[in-house]
Amino acid sequence: QTVINLGKLHSFRKRLNSSVSTCRCLLVRKYSDVPRKFISFEEVAAQRRAQARRSLVVQVNSESSFKELYGYCSEYSDIKGVHHYNNSSGEHFMLIEFASEENLKDVLKTCSAHQKDVDVMSLQSPFLWFRATQGKREKYTTPDTSLAITDGNAAVNEDKLFEGLTTCASVSDQIQMLYDQTVLNDVGVRLRYMVARQLEVIFASLYSNIAIRPFGSSVNGFGKMGCDLDLVLTNVLPEEMSDPQKRLVYHEKKCEGGRNPWQRHMELVAELLELRVPGAGRVTRILNARVPIVKYTHEFTDVECDLCYNNMSGVYMSELLWLFGSLDPRVRPLCFVVRRWAHTAGLTSPHPGRWITNFPLTLMVLFFLQQTTKEGAVLPPLKYLVQRAGKEDVRIAEDNLNCTFLRDMNKLPPDTYSQNTASLETLLVQFFEFYAQFDFQDKAISINEGTAVRKPNGLPLYIVNPLEQTLNVSRNVSYEECERIRMEVRNAAWQLETAMEEKTDDWGLLCLIERKTSRGLKKLLRVGNSQRLVSVKDLFKDDDSVPGENELKSKLE
Ligand code: GTP
Ligand code: MG
Repeated sequence: QTVINLGKLHSFRKRLNSSVSTCRCLLVRKYSDVPRKFISFEEVAAQRRAQARRSLVVQVNSESSFKELYGYCSEYSDIKGVHHYNNSSGEHFMLIEFASEENLKDVLKTCSAHQKDVDVMSLQSPFLWFRATQGKREKYTTPDTSLAITDGNAAVNEDKLFEGLTTCASVSDQIQMLYDQTVLNDVGVRLRYMVARQLEVIFASLYSNIAIRPFGSSVNGFGKMGCDLDLVLTNVLPEEMSDPQKRLVYHEKKCEGGRNPWQRHMELVAELLELRVPGAGRVTRILNARVPIVKYTHEFTDVECDLCYNNMSGVYMSELLWLFGSLDPRVRPLCFVVRRWAHTAGLTSPHPGRWITNFPLTLMVLFFLQQTTKEGAVLPPLKYLVQRAGKEDVRIAEDNLNCTFLRDMNKLPPDTYSQNTASLETLLVQFFEFYAQFDFQDKAISINEGTAVRKPNGLPLYIVNPLEQTLNVSRNVSYEECERIRMEVRNAAWQLETAMEEKTDDWGLLCLIERKTSRGLKKLLRVGNSQRLVSVKDLFKDDDSVPGENELKSKLE
């Protein structure tokens, strides 16, 4: 990623009397001859996994337990960093990163079990609690002052966000602010990797080559604070264990009965979540789906988890989105604002149904950014990354799916970078205008080609699956929902243009997004906007009853 010096940005801004996001674009352009250093998705994931392997999450009494916990742990180990957070039950936790895995093991040797817990397996979890001292308090070394405790994982303060948005100088600044204030922060990412690590540690005694990897919005760069955690469980033999020269071979366990063995393993995993995993609750099994999923809530971190087996194409898809997001600093803020607008307009819902979800919506934004305007396209088509892939980029996912594309963006020729310097505001307006004109009837959206292609069938919305081009990632979207997308993009283009001229309370972006409160919901129901009411009612088409406000809220939020 391009590193921008904030001091430089502000002096630049002063000189040009321009908005922050315009300056970011100009700076990126100014320093574009300096070779950029991209860090690959796999490098980031490896760093985060290593970080999780040397970290613990400790429940404490209050924020002020920091000094005591720090002093206690530093008697056994070197501490690299401490982060404090609260969960929604108001409980306090400290995420401690030790200097090395060895250091963490030294601390674990000092752990004890709950008095009644004779079962050692549950102890292997990296989620612990800090017992209050019995009797006299010990004196501990004072923490190093450079090691300030950071606070994280708190929900976005919507009032503060909206106050900030009102005072921005331009719509571009509003879009940038929305992104900066709602993007999943470092503690949020660390905790998600800790949740994955916890399962790895607990399941390791049953499945020796297991890996649990986060994918989806938690890691693809498009995740917001509080986003769900998609996890994939893989169990792959290491190369040395597949050597046919080795004479001693483990007996295999043949699975009896006709059912897919991994469907049964996932049943077991669900049982283990209920029996063995501290913090895991509300386990739901969805095992007859194409990709069997076990859902659960991680109560210590407030993260909703979806665990599936061997879905490596999901991980490669996340990598692809991450790479596109890292190619230009405008991609992620633009996706954020479009996702937020779609949520406000009732086009997306966290519940599965006939409507579009965030993933295909993100592909729509990427596709728009691949369109060639007078200034050129912001992003290249995916086929460009596939053509430039080397041997080291070959990845074959489940069902022999070829997921090969260039991973190291440092290898891209410099002319790949766009000369397009349109502001975020311009891009957002152009996004709405582009889809207001798009021929949804005959054309499919393909980020592989970067141009609209002929639709192979009559489904209302066709977005080609970038890794499995015979599939449509929006096959669930109904004709009515597709019509609503067309109508809402037209409305948004018109609303945004009007709201930029008049400096009212609903100025700029504020006319497109809503504060996530129950007041926002009431407003949604009160406003005589028939299109929005249709979208709310649509959610209940299969329900006989008229929903109460709480029910409605839970379906909407
Ligand atoms: P939110 O959860 O809404 O924040 O976004 P998300 O990107 O995590 O979307 P979702 O949880 O629906 O999907 C998780 C990930 O699975 C996506 O980011 C994609 O990487 C992948 N994915 C989603 N749909 C498909 C699909 O149809 N095919 C494949 N191969 N991968 C998919
Ligand atoms: Mg997700």
